[in-house]
Amino acid sequence: MRCIDRLRAELRGVLSGMDEAGSLCQHHPQLSPVAWHVGHAAFVESHWLRERFLGHAPDLHGWHAVYFPELAPKARRANTLPPRDQLLGWFDEQAARNTEAWALARTTWARHGLISSGYLESFLVQHQCQHLETIAQVLHARACADPAHPRQRLTRAASAHTEHVAVPRQRLRLGVPGDCGSAAPYDNELGPHEVTVPAFSIARRPVTCAQWLGFIQGGGYRERHLWTPDGWAWRTAHGVQAPQGWRLADDGSAQLVGNGADMSNQAVTGISLHEAHAYARWAGGTVPDETQWMAARRQGALDDVGTAWEWCRSPLACWPGFKAFPYDRYTLPWCDGAHFVLKGGSVHTRPPVRRDSFRNFYTADARHVFAGLRLVAAA
Ligand code: AVJ
Ligand code: FE
Repeated sequence: MRCIDRLRAELRGVLSGMDEAGSLCQHHPQLSPVAWHVGHAAFVESHWLRERFLGHAPDLHGWHAVYFPELAPKARRANTLPPRDQLLGWFDEQAARNTEAWALARTTWARHGLISSGYLESFLVQHQCQHLETIAQVLHARACADPAHPRQRLTRAASAHTEHVAVPRQRLRLGVPGDCGSAAPYDNELGPHEVTVPAFSIARRPVTCAQWLGFIQGGGYRERHLWTPDGWAWRTAHGVQAPQGWRLADDGSAQLVGNGADMSNQAVTGISLHEAHAYARWAGGTVPDETQWMAARRQGALDDVGTAWEWCRSPLACWPGFKAFPYDRYTLPWCDGAHFVLKGGSVHTRPPVRRDSFRNFYTADARHVFAGLRLVAAA
């Protein structure tokens, strides 16, 4: 079975394994219902493969307003979705049409650049993978909000002190070579160029849950001077006192939604970039910028990459020579100064999107994205 068929089947399995109400409900203001993600992933495959590449998909017209994110505001998505069984039936119809369409594309259109390079398939595989991670975010947010969900107790705080590795001043090459459509990377990863990175040192390991407990117990969420003005406004507006899903007890311990294993020494997740900045100031460091993260990664200085997304202080920006591909909206609207880069990947990140050049991006207030941080200090 091909990767794209396996992922499609997995997406279907997630929806068919959920109860109807749970799958159609919006559990979190920044997260669409699971059913929307499943429908959207099928729709996007149909749209690119049949409607745009092969040029014929009259069955899709009515679905544009439901599944194009720009036509369907998040808050309204739950209201436009069909009942779950109807969605599953439609999904199977799309799967059958697309399987046939791929066979046609791979034979009749084998010499077309988007097919011979594998780009079209790789793009859609990666898109399905990204939505599978977003679905994991929805299920996790739901677990965090559920008082009956099993939790583990974290009692012992760890010191913020952590081993640092020196990274010398250097010229760093960023940007994957290649033309749009010639390889797997997204448009925002392309464009070789050099930047100067001053010397710095970086923590070998991400900040752990036990270290974060030390920040909480040390008054980190109460000390305004640790926070940026935006961060403090956000913290007070939402009454944030701990990472997403943590429940604090009067004795200073915390209850965490976990994966079974002891989480004390695991990378903390469920924090926004605002919280990352506050912790960094408290611990006497900073949040890395994207070039520091890349320089340290190339030097082999980083352990535990890929267990939690790592916030960077850098707003997402298009690199020199940027050309939007295959559509404007993958990257361009988010180079708005409000979206920040995350590097590495989480335990929910699938292999097709796990690479050092991958640039994830969310707003500074996002805490549902399996992200933590790693500290940087002056050289
Ligand atoms: C890059 C993960 C922020 O989920 O909004 C999915 C990826 N783009 N469909 C997102 C994406 C279009 C995007 N992130
Ligand atoms: Fe999408």
